Amino acid sequence: MTSGISNLRIVTIDCPYDSWNDPRTQELFAKMVGLRLEGFKAAYGYGILPLDASDFVANQQLICVDKGGHLFPVLGQKSVTLSRAAKHRLTFPGISFCQMSAAPIHERIVRRIVADAEKSGREISYEGGWTIDPNARKDKEFSTLLRRIYAGMFCLYHRDYQVHEAVGCAVVRFKAHEHFHGFGYKPVADDEGKELPNIVTYFSGEPVQLIHMAELSEKALREANEFYFMWKNRLKLDSPEAVQEVLKKIA
Ligand SMILES: CC(C)(COP(=O)(O)OP(=O)(O)OC[C@H]1O[C@@H](n2cnc3c(N)ncnc32)[C@H](O)[C@@H]1OP(=O)(O)O)[C@@H](O)C(=O)NCCC(=O)NCCS
Repeated sequence: MTSGISNLRIVTIDCPYDSWNDPRTQELFAKMVGLRLEGFKAAYGYGILPLDASDFVANQQLICVDKGGHLFPVLGQKSVTLSRAAKHRLTFPGISFCQMSAAPIHERIVRRIVADAEKSGREISYEGGWTIDPNARKDKEFSTLLRRIYAGMFCLYHRDYQVHEAVGCAVVRFKAHEHFHGFGYKPVADDEGKELPNIVTYFSGEPVQLIHMAELSEKALREANEFYFMWKNRLKLDSPEAVQEVLKKIA
């Protein structure tokens, strides 16, 4: 599955719930589901179910191979903001994740991080669902390129959408924490500043490090510029009118 950067295109589905009537949202959302299932099943086996209601209101971010105008996602990840979760009466996934993984100390700290962000008017997101197509993973050069574009996309998304902070969990087996620390994430610490132990996740039984990004790394932001042209030219599926309608109704 070798593909150069010129054949790759970023797609963002900014809340599939709002742009569902766009046939491109339906097509790419279905492909995103396929990618997520294949990516996670390859790592954890049959039975893993890495999707939930938040996928419908997330900012879905995809890197796709463009084959003659047909887009095939090879990397995906989602971002669920606190304000979006609240609009749809979902528990913020960073909190529900700790609850369902029976990690009450982690939950308390995430609640504090979220409350502090809210108090200071800073948007915060839960980032999850990161996967790479298992075939693409076999090609190390290609998966390294995808990881680099992903780092750039993460920074540009957080900068341009004004999502100031993020929490997530990094699978230790895939050294995801090492990758994420480069973005500006740090391991979550307790009230005394001591790093919390890894959580064993409810949905995969896998040890993960709980991480918090309070500020993007300047180095990662600088490096993101290399991929700005891809970010600027991305296919952006959204529906500002629908968003405005919804906001008016619930205001
Ligand atoms: C996370 C993911 C996108 C990373 O893909 P990738 O960039 O191609 O990275 P790899 O799968 O090659 O794994 C990265 C590292 O973990 C190691 N690794 C991978 N599978 C492993 C295993 N079963 N046991 C031990 N180490 C393993 C690799 O050797 C590699 O280490 P190295 O960099 O020292 O060589 C991919 O593994 C994936 O889709 N996983 C399933 C979904 C998931 O768990 N997502 C959440 C991540 S936070």
